[in-house]
This record gives sequence, C-alpha cells and structure tokens, in this order.
Amino acid sequence: MLLRSLRPQISRVTGARALQSQGSGREFKVVEVGPRDGLQNEKNFVPTEQKIELINRLGQSGLKVVECASYVSPKWVPQMKDNDVVINGIDRLPGVSYPVLVPNMTGMKNVLKNKNVEEIAVFAAASEGFSKKNTNCSIEKSLQRLGEVASEALKHGLRVRGYTSVVIACPYDGRTDPAKVAALCEALLSMGCYEVSLGDTIGVGSAASVAKMLDEVLRVAPAEKFAVHFHDTYGQALANVLVSVEKGIRVADSSVAGLGGCPYAKGATGNLASEDLVYMLHDMGFDTGIDLETLVETGEWICENMGRANVSRCSNALLTKKAKTK
Ligand code: HMG
Ligand code: MG
Repeated sequence: MLLRSLRPQISRVTGARALQSQGSGREFKVVEVGPRDGLQNEKNFVPTEQKIELINRLGQSGLKVVECASYVSPKWVPQMKDNDVVINGIDRLPGVSYPVLVPNMTGMKNVLKNKNVEEIAVFAAASEGFSKKNTNCSIEKSLQRLGEVASEALKHGLRVRGYTSVVIACPYDGRTDPAKVAALCEALLSMGCYEVSLGDTIGVGSAASVAKMLDEVLRVAPAEKFAVHFHDTYGQALANVLVSVEKGIRVADSSVAGLGGCPYAKGATGNLASEDLVYMLHDMGFDTGIDLETLVETGEWICENMGRANVSRCSNALLTKKAKTK
C-alpha cells in the first residue's frame, strides 16, 4: 500500500534587510550534521575523544541541534561504531538536541539501551536504487521498518525526525520524480516525524530543480514541516537554501567546514558548510543563535586534527582576513 502511494524584519548583523517571505519571522534553525554526515565517510577512524570534542565545541557555538552518531551496522559504516561512547561522553547543553540516525529495530533496541538518547532520525530514499544500496532493502520494506522504529521511539518519549534522500537525483536510477519525494515525505510525517529533511544526497540540484521539487512537496504539508539538506558537490547548496527560504522553509542542515559525503553515493561531496550558511542567514537578518567566530574556529580545529582541507569559503575568507590584521 505504501508502495502504491509512491506513484506517481530586519536585524543589524551587516545592515542587510531580511528577505521578506511567507515564513514565520526571524528565527532560523541550523541542524549541524558534521559529526554524523561529515564523518561517516572518513576512511581513517576519527578518535572518539575528537568526535566528543567536536560535538561539544559545536554545542558551545550556539547550535540548537547537533546530529552526533548513527546506530547503523558497524559493518556498513565502521566510523560510527563508537556511537554509545560518543553519546555518553558529550556535555549535554540545555536546549540543545543531539539526534542519532536509526535504520531498523536492531538500531532502535540499541538506542533504547542508552538513556542519553532523546531524539532519533529515520531515513528513507526516494529511489529504489539508493534504498537498496544504502539500506539493503526496497522503499516499501524500509518504510515498514521505519514505521516500527518510529512507533517504538514515540512510545518511549523520543522525538523522531525524518530524512528523504535523493530528492533531486539518484546515483543509480537518475532523476527523481518530485511526486515520489512528496509521497515519501507524507509517509514519514504520518509515522510521526515532527519534521522531514529533504536530502539532495549527491548535490546535483540547482535553483530550478529544487523549486520544482519543493512545490510538489509543499502540497502534502506546510513549510514548517520541512528542512533542507544540500550536499554541495556542484556548488549549488547556498542558492538552493535561498530558494527554500523563499518557499518558507526555516530549517537547513549543514556540516562544519563542509565535512562529509555518503559512503553509498560515490563522488558526492560534503554538506553545505555551516559557516557559509550562517554567514548568509545572518546577512539576511535571520537569528540563528550561532556565534560565527566559534563555528569558524571549530571548523578549523577539526580540519587541522583530521589533516584535511577546510572547504568553507566563509571560513577561509575570515581566517585570511584575521591573519592579515595580526
Ligand atoms: P543488513 O546487512 O541487511 O542487516 O543491513 P541485517 O538485518 O541482515 O543484519 C545483518 C547483521 O548486521 C546482523 O549481525 C545484525 O545484527 C547487524 P550478525 O548476525 O551478522 O552478527 N545489524 C546491526 N548492527 C548494529 N546496528 C544496526 C544493525 N542492523 C543490523 N542497526 C542495514 C541493513 C540497514 C543495517 C545496513 O544497510 C546499514 O547499516 N545501512 C546504513 C547505511 C548508512 O548509514 N548510510 C549513511 C547514512 S544515510 C545518509 O547519509 C543520507 C542523509 O545524510 C540524507 C541525505 O544526504 O540525503 C541522511
Ligand atoms: Mg547527507
């Protein structure tokens, strides 16, 4: 049956004026996915203490949501095998949520053994090819599994967020029909997800394709029910957020220093860098509660520790400026 349903204001940050749109005012929620989406694809194991410190620093920057781990199979994603130690090691700041990804009831049972988890995220794909590669099952089967996971989580008082992946295109099946994305979002919302994040997993979408997808998705629920999650492979992520803001969306996922990639989507780069997103949002007059400088320092810190390049344009510009003024 599920398969059938899949057929087809002003603030003084820089003096700039906030975009006037149909959204709910000046607040904008940034969901930091660096410790999960950002690290899951790293070949070398990132030491647990480093993961913990990253999450703590991100929390201190003022972020309200920091996705910190996955309860997926360690054979599939070895980088996330220290999930429990990470969750139990972090400083939980009041008002900050620390969700973890859960694909099935095995993961859910493990989550329930850890009293420190208060929020989970379930994920499904809008294409059969990605569903199979990422979770080893069809879309229909994954929705069945996630329905059970969501109901168990809600029964235990956990909040449940949803992800729809490959909303623009799939690395295996090609372009995604926006109607399929909308149907999947509807299924996730009806399971009790408080919000569904729309993932352009391989970062191929641009303004026109994203607008078309959003128009379809916003038929099934209002903008308050959605977040956007753009990987920045083609450098279109900020433009895509802007289109989403114009449609009324006020939540976006991003990753500090642009870390990341998906192990089951070859060639896809990291998420939109959190620093670049926050810089734009502040310039538009949105209130994120985030201190950009702390975020920039955190991005630089983790890149230095991991020995990788910081791909945030904003970070690089601010750090160069700072070095010149020394
Ligand atoms: P499977 O191999 O079909 O699982 O994997 P299974 O049920 O047949 O079990 C096989 C073995 O795995 C068993 O152990 C299970 O106990 C164990 P054995 O008896 O052989 O010793 N197992 C588990 N262990 C720990 N935790 C679990 C778990 N489940 C089974 N939860 C499965 C199916 C879904 C588990 C696997 O495909 C998987 O882990 N996939 C996750 C892949 C992943 O994490 N991808 C990246 C995240 S999604 C993403 O990045 C997209 C997103 O960012 C949005 C966007 O960008 O679009 C969210
Ligand atoms: Mg992702």
